Amino acid sequence: MAKIKDILAREILDSRGNPTVEAIIILETGIWATGSAPAGASIGKYEARELRDNDPNRFLGKGVKKAVSNIKEKIAPALRGKEVTAQRQIDDLLCQLDGTPQKSNLGANSILAVSLGIARAASLSLRVPLFEYLRNTFWPEIQDYSLPTPLFNVINGGKHSDSGLSIQEFMIIPKADLSFKEKVRVGAEVFYALRDVLSKTGYSFACGDEGGFAPKLGSTKRVLDIFSQIANYTKHSLGEEVFFGFDVAASHFYSSEKKIYNFEGKKRKSEWMLNLYKNYIKKYPLLIIEDPFDEDDWDYWAKLTAQVQVLDPNVLIVGDDLLTTNVERLKKAIELKSANAILIKPNQAGTLSETVDCINTARSANWKFVISHRSGETNDTFISDLAVASNAPFIKAGAPNRGERVAKYNRLMEIEEFFL
Ligand code: PGA
Ligand code: ZN
Repeated sequence: MAKIKDILAREILDSRGNPTVEAIIILETGIWATGSAPAGASIGKYEARELRDNDPNRFLGKGVKKAVSNIKEKIAPALRGKEVTAQRQIDDLLCQLDGTPQKSNLGANSILAVSLGIARAASLSLRVPLFEYLRNTFWPEIQDYSLPTPLFNVINGGKHSDSGLSIQEFMIIPKADLSFKEKVRVGAEVFYALRDVLSKTGYSFACGDEGGFAPKLGSTKRVLDIFSQIANYTKHSLGEEVFFGFDVAASHFYSSEKKIYNFEGKKRKSEWMLNLYKNYIKKYPLLIIEDPFDEDDWDYWAKLTAQVQVLDPNVLIVGDDLLTTNVERLKKAIELKSANAILIKPNQAGTLSETVDCINTARSANWKFVISHRSGETNDTFISDLAVASNAPFIKAGAPNRGERVAKYNRLMEIEEFFL
């Protein structure tokens, strides 16, 4: 047992070069650990709010000095002397200290960095790996460990690059019955082949925010055709070993007033988008469609989910901006059958305990869940341990490229190789 002696905080840079928050949790035993907050570019309307300084003289207004001082001046005094393993009570206290529904007072960035740092400090204090500490704390009833399937975002569009592609993420999914390490190998081999094909056909292989390429391919169909070509090229059989996935992030090209999607240069209605997805499912080995509609276009979510069940029950309709790792929104979606899977981003919830509640709500409704990074990341690999602790079916941590992305995959390979 160990008590919190102090909490420090500082401004660090994320993978886009924007400031973000790191909290340093110091225990009375001298053990210390850090936690940090990632940041999204395509931020859902309903997610917990990060606090930024809006001071145009620093980092174009993106500084997080206020969030850092909230940790030092408001959170640290409230947590000093608390038992570090009391995660749930600490998270409740953090929510109370903030006192707003979307954590806009202290900032979800300051709250999350502390919440995750507390869990890491507790695991160090108990001398157990983080995933084991999280398992014992939140899921003691689960017996075995199973590693998640990685979703590799190898082509970056939307707000994550200047490729001009409407869809934000094009994912390659090695879904065969392979070890995690072998799935990483398949993802990396596809990635090399993609680079080769792009360079031979005159496209740029420069990278977007999540490590995927950002070629100006012009249309979704073109990307999917290149994906099909690649799978043959690498001898990974399509629809058996390798599947495709999208994160459409449709809220970002939707006009709520006109109820129109501005998709690939044309104005499209929800019905048109629905038919497009159905056609893609018929034509390609598509396993995941994330955020196919706007975060408030509830009716079409349910329509697509119902129709996809008939077409191919293995296809997952994943809610990210729709659900924002929020238990209340998830409960509504479960009732309305709006999707059959949820993206889990700890910084959308704001604390570790709320993130866990969301995972548990999804699991008890038989929904799948995807533990996810953000497009602006740090080198913190917390989500890898969270995925193992919760037996998550999937993890989304970008392409097998860029240090902050491969850090997550490397941590999962380490857990597989040395601990399980
Ligand atoms: P974001 O993108 O981190 O920019 O929100 C990730 C996603 O939409 O899944
Ligand atoms: Zn998303």
